[in-house]
Amino acid sequence: MGEFRKKALFFTILFTVSWEATMAIRQKEDDDNLNKFVLSPTKTIVRIFNKLGNGQDLTIHCKSKDNDLGVVTIGDNGVFYWKFRVNILGSTLFFCGLNWTDGNGVYDIYKAKRDMHRCPTRCNWEAHTDCVHGLRQGDNLWDFIYNWTRPS
Ligand SMILES: *[C@@H]1O[C@H](CO)[C@@H](O)[C@H](O)[C@H]1NC(C)=O
Ligand SMILES: *[C@@H]1O[C@H](CO)[C@@H](O)[C@H](O)[C@H]1NC(C)=O
Repeated sequence: MGEFRKKALFFTILFTVSWEATMAIRQKEDDDNLNKFVLSPTKTIVRIFNKLGNGQDLTIHCKSKDNDLGVVTIGDNGVFYWKFRVNILGSTLFFCGLNWTDGNGVYDIYKAKRDMHRCPTRCNWEAHTDCVHGLRQGDNLWDFIYNWTRPS
């Protein structure tokens, strides 16, 4: 029984990992040389999920002061993610323009001062038709909500 549950857990993890690998259409890692002085020994991963439903695409364009992650369009249920290390000044900031047919906006998706403790290693965001929300790591709470600007 215990052995079975261990196996089940292992396969769940394996499935999740390979699902993510399949769904991620682009992964951009900061070149470690860009951030020579690192504060964090571990990398932070930020993921933005398209939960718009109805087969709707989401276009994402994320940038930091030093990096442009490019423009990508992900399908319904797709995910875009990237990894980086928080810089020594704690000034790391990634902002992303998101748009779909009925909404758009530019949002601070990772801000070290806000997120270093809020989501130290995994920062998840979901784009829904009503809003974009961010998950606080560890307690499954969508604690951050951004509204869409609606096209007039
Ligand atoms: C987002 O906006 C860009 C530029 O206006 C456009 O090319 C793209 O099709 C839009 N994406 C979606 C999913 O509506
Ligand atoms: C988002 O929209 C809701 C409903 O329209 C509103 O109550 C709320 O104040 C808005 N939040 C922000 C951050 O603008």
